[in-house]
Amino acid sequence: MSSLLITHIKTLLQAESVARPLPRGAGMAELPALHDAYLLLENDRIAAFGPMAQCPARADEVLDASGRLVLPSWCDSHTHIVFAATREEEFVDRIKGLSYEEIAQRGGGILNSARRLQEASEDSLLESAWGRLQEVIGYGTGAIEIKSGYGLTLESELKMLRVIRRLKTLSPIPIKATFLGAHAVPAEYKSRREEYLDLVVDRMLPQVAEEGLADYCDVFCDRGFFTVEETDRILKAGWRYGLKPKIHANELDFSGGVQVGVANRAVSVDHLECSGEAEIAALLGSQTLPTLLPGCAFFLGIPFPPARQMIDAGLPVVLASDYNPGSSPCGRMAFIVSLACVKMNMLPEEAINAATLNGAHALELEQEYGSICPGKKANLFITKPLNSLAQLPYSFGTDPVETVILNGKVWKGPDGNKKS
Ligand code: NIG
Ligand code: FE
Repeated sequence: MSSLLITHIKTLLQAESVARPLPRGAGMAELPALHDAYLLLENDRIAAFGPMAQCPARADEVLDASGRLVLPSWCDSHTHIVFAATREEEFVDRIKGLSYEEIAQRGGGILNSARRLQEASEDSLLESAWGRLQEVIGYGTGAIEIKSGYGLTLESELKMLRVIRRLKTLSPIPIKATFLGAHAVPAEYKSRREEYLDLVVDRMLPQVAEEGLADYCDVFCDRGFFTVEETDRILKAGWRYGLKPKIHANELDFSGGVQVGVANRAVSVDHLECSGEAEIAALLGSQTLPTLLPGCAFFLGIPFPPARQMIDAGLPVVLASDYNPGSSPCGRMAFIVSLACVKMNMLPEEAINAATLNGAHALELEQEYGSICPGKKANLFITKPLNSLAQLPYSFGTDPVETVILNGKVWKGPDGNKKS
């Protein structure tokens, strides 16, 4: 057995002796906080925590966290970190006045990423995605979801999902894989979109399922992408292979995406920039989680999702990065938490719950991740010296993470050095 003891923690956050239910509504502002605390890890698990006055005398390794906060790792439930190339030329086009949708209609956007990915080898995609995974681990992410959706052919969708499968075997953090064949209709299917849907349903899904390449099925249900009826067809087909829905909805329009996701018992509906009373009402009567991606609204200059109304109505909001080359080229969850506070009026406590425990629920990993609870996996981070929890989102340009701990051990970065 190996043990790691963290002592003199200024504030230990999101620590619970017994796992509590999913934080929702007013409960999202309740974030457990223990001042002047210790935390004991044994092997890869959380063993115990408490006030310093009751700190165990010894352990194999001891870290002094004076002046620092300790939090469970971020659980980032929505990313697209397998991609072949960045898209900064579209960023400049948007600065000059083109919209995200106009760029997409010209064959840019997702179709641009698909052309680049189709040309890339599986090994090169693995190498670049591995770099991004290391990057976000260094920023404190300790569980993640990764989507396909830049393949858009049978061969290339499978290539992306095989990259994700290889990442799963290499990664020190858990990864959930999502099949997103219906991310955009390829240009060559523009006048025969029904045939592309047939390809997704009749060829891609069966093969993805046979190889066990995905945990979830996604569709970009929105204006200019896939309709409610098309989404319904794909999600029902996914269910036939045991793939639960987890969808892109209501980013560009009040598209009915939230409702079709809820009707198909989606684990989560993600984006929701265009949401009002009808969407909130649909979510309230369901188990489907609303996942907000404020990096996208920030980067595209579109309205932010109504997080405040959602929480005030009693919903359990989730935050994720949406790390991708088109709408949110950022996987730094601490910045996403800052955006949630600054742009969506979420309290720091609400944003931390949304990015940790609620994110773990959106990954269906809440039994093992998302809080510092005896028996759960010891994935957590120690911050740099901070005055208070609020200083974390307040200092939006600073990386607050000093030391990353994964599976009970201090994580050594890609070059063998510890992050600090
Ligand atoms: O979550 N909105 C749809 N899909 C991605 C962006 C895809 C892209 O532009 O490459 C998103 O924002
Ligand atoms: Fe996305």
